[in-house]
Amino acid sequence: MTANNTHDDWWKQAVVYQIYPRSFKDVNGDGLGDIAGITEKMNYLKTLGVDAIWLSPFYPSELADGGYDVIDYRNVDPRLGTMNDFDAMVAAAHGSGIKVIVDIVPNHTSDKHRFFQEALKAGRGSAARDRYIFREGRGKNGELPPNDWQSLFGGPAWERVDDGQWYFHIFAKEQPDVNWKNPDIHEEFKETFRFWSDHGVDGFRIDVAHGLAKDFDSESLEQLGAEFSVQNQENRDGRSPMWDRPEVHDIYKEWRQVFNEYNPPRFAVGEAWVIPEHQYLYASTDELGQVFNFEFAKSNWNVDDMRKAIVEGLDAAARTNGSTSTWVMSNHDIPRNATRYGLPQVPSHEKHQVAKDWLLRDGKTYFEDRKLGTRRARAAVLMEMGLPGSVYIYQGEELGLFEVPDIPWNRLEDPNASRTKQAASDKGRDGCRVPLPWVADDEPKPASWDKNFGEGASFGFSPASKADGTPSEAPHLPQPLWFKDFAADKEADDPTSMLTLYRSVLKNRAELLTATGDYDSLDWLDMGDDVIAYTRPAIYQGSASTFASVTNFGAAPIALPKGRVLLTSAELAEDGGLPQDASAWLLLDE
Ligand code: NOJ
Repeated sequence: MTANNTHDDWWKQAVVYQIYPRSFKDVNGDGLGDIAGITEKMNYLKTLGVDAIWLSPFYPSELADGGYDVIDYRNVDPRLGTMNDFDAMVAAAHGSGIKVIVDIVPNHTSDKHRFFQEALKAGRGSAARDRYIFREGRGKNGELPPNDWQSLFGGPAWERVDDGQWYFHIFAKEQPDVNWKNPDIHEEFKETFRFWSDHGVDGFRIDVAHGLAKDFDSESLEQLGAEFSVQNQENRDGRSPMWDRPEVHDIYKEWRQVFNEYNPPRFAVGEAWVIPEHQYLYASTDELGQVFNFEFAKSNWNVDDMRKAIVEGLDAAARTNGSTSTWVMSNHDIPRNATRYGLPQVPSHEKHQVAKDWLLRDGKTYFEDRKLGTRRARAAVLMEMGLPGSVYIYQGEELGLFEVPDIPWNRLEDPNASRTKQAASDKGRDGCRVPLPWVADDEPKPASWDKNFGEGASFGFSPASKADGTPSEAPHLPQPLWFKDFAADKEADDPTSMLTLYRSVLKNRAELLTATGDYDSLDWLDMGDDVIAYTRPAIYQGSASTFASVTNFGAAPIALPKGRVLLTSAELAEDGGLPQDASAWLLLDE
């Protein structure tokens, strides 16, 4: 059993709510969510019961990749507000007892970042070019890229500049990778951490944390081409030239010194798609402190996959020195979990293909069973939120939103879909980034261009008009008319809604589980192969008690252990049995 939480380790059991700012809430009517919108909705977040918010990038950007192409790391995109708006948002969050985490993108900058513009001007061999990864091409006149690597968004991973050199980019060509062997890069990011910490930020989410260290020089790039592709992120033997390299940890040890300049020390969580056995290295408390465990997000809705995800998550955390598990069902990069659970549950290795295929064909290849998807998403949140450690919720997950698969291709923003040569094979991630519905009665009319989408109003995402009285712009991604049933105000008044369930789950979690200060104990309860059940120490009405979470994946209802039922995700059977695809929370009889 772990020591009580102190002020410094608030993050160990935090419920963190991810905001994708451009799609959260628009206050000025330009169709893009803004920082003031987050401030306006702080009460909603407080009522939901979250401990922290994580903001995806809100910095100046040309939006080649939804803001993950940063032009200036120490400013707010003028379309989203000002630094004053940011400070007001942080004050409102702290006033509501909510911490603020911002997203840092250290693997690449925007091609409009001052460093890259200087690199272009300065020419080959210059100090400015050394901040990025420039190489000469192959072929008689260097007209071929240094090797045949493909970028993660499709198309070549090398782009040629006017004087003939090529630069490397894992993602879009507007996102050149920086060279972490260059001291200026270290200074730029240390200054960035201090800047936001001085503005009251409590922590950082580190984008592509497993990709920063690169070694393109030990072997010739051509030889590296086939065996070590950009796509192969697994690095068991330390030999990948770009993923999960051992020296990436030196960078995080250096950052930790900066985080520890503050009191309490600044928190960081790494996005590192590494093998579970390597996660703990990033999560070490002399490095980032925490790392995302994506095993839930990768799992199908079946008992074996889900159990494995939990076991691996707990094991990964147990290997660390003082970190905790993290649990993630969805984020801005993956199809929404209510949809995933309603699509055919094929074996795991084919699963991504099912969701991708379904999206690619505008949601028409497979039947999306929404009733089933919702039922399972409800069961999932109980199973997840009782676990020890920290939980990440992606905006709209608490409303039970489904993926929007049929956004017309000409309205897509994701470079996966619109900016690469793979346009016909990947529809991208916009279906989970559609602006949120807040007000059911602010109902749009069927759009002239597609009657399934709305036009003229935005379910309260934008105001009716701008400050000058002219009507607001349309939301930057179109909202489907079925969003009406998921509007936050409607769900807030409905005792059976997903929002009501999330609110009760978070309230119970805080009172019964978080309050114990124990962030890692868990005992399995053996209730058969089709059931995931565990117990944890709890506090109930001031006394020590035992909490249990039970999820039934099997067709037959099961008898619950003896105790007081606190919450269920679905109605129990007449005899009190827990039916299929349902979870219950209980306090066990002693
Ligand atoms: C991971 C982010 O979550 C994703 O949205 C982005 O496209 C890539 N990193 C590149 O920054």
